[in-house]
Amino acid sequence: MEEDLLKEIAAQLRKPNGEMGADVATRMNEGNREMNMATIDALDIQDHQQIVEIGMGNGFFVKEILSRAENVNYTGCDYSEDMVNAASTLNAEFVTKGNARFVKTTADELPFEFHSIDTLFTVNTLYFWDDPSTTLSEFMKVLKPDGKLVITIRPGHCLKKYPTTKYNFTHYEREDLTMLLEKNQFQVLKCIEVTEQQKVEILGESFASEFLVVVARPG
Ligand SMILES: C[S@@+](CC[C@H](N)C(=O)[O-])C[C@H]1O[C@@H](n2cnc3c(N)ncnc32)[C@H](O)[C@@H]1O
Repeated sequence: MEEDLLKEIAAQLRKPNGEMGADVATRMNEGNREMNMATIDALDIQDHQQIVEIGMGNGFFVKEILSRAENVNYTGCDYSEDMVNAASTLNAEFVTKGNARFVKTTADELPFEFHSIDTLFTVNTLYFWDDPSTTLSEFMKVLKPDGKLVITIRPGHCLKKYPTTKYNFTHYEREDLTMLLEKNQFQVLKCIEVTEQQKVEILGESFASEFLVVVARPG
């Protein structure tokens, strides 16, 4: 694949927009299904919780989140206007009922009251944070003191098998992520490491992809 195309796909993964962004978002729902479902399991959602997701893409998994308990309130935050619009359309029924809303904002400036959120989670966005300490301090601000933070990534040694990730992705191994959280006053409760069953094939190479679900709480 040509370098220019790889760069374009990398930019779309960082911030999807336009027709190509819509296509990339649909592909992500397939390729990242197992990691999104494992993350939702790790949230352990309870009735009446306020749940926030950063970087929900087109919001394909919102229905799954809302089905896990009664009267759950979900807010998806994404800095891509096209993803906010796509997620709002896909989840119009939940938006109308008042169970879900989608907000165009960066992870560094969240539109929530101090200590108001039960659970905040994010899948496949850490690679794009410009200043992780600023982002984590924003999470700390909005999370309740007994709240939960769940961050899911593909670890660096796996991510580097995806040729697009050499363009403007920051790679983290398990230790990097746990150290980052601890340095920013989060206490790591659990690290779930998964090797996916279904192999992926990229540029003629077939391999089992991996991901890491890290569960933490304000320390
Ligand atoms: C690689 S996609 C992941 C989508 C989905 N979470 C998944 O795992 O399939 C990253 C998404 O997060 C959004 N995003 C990345 N960094 C962000 C940030 N700092 N603040 C808000 N949204 C962000 C992008 O616009 C995009 O929709």
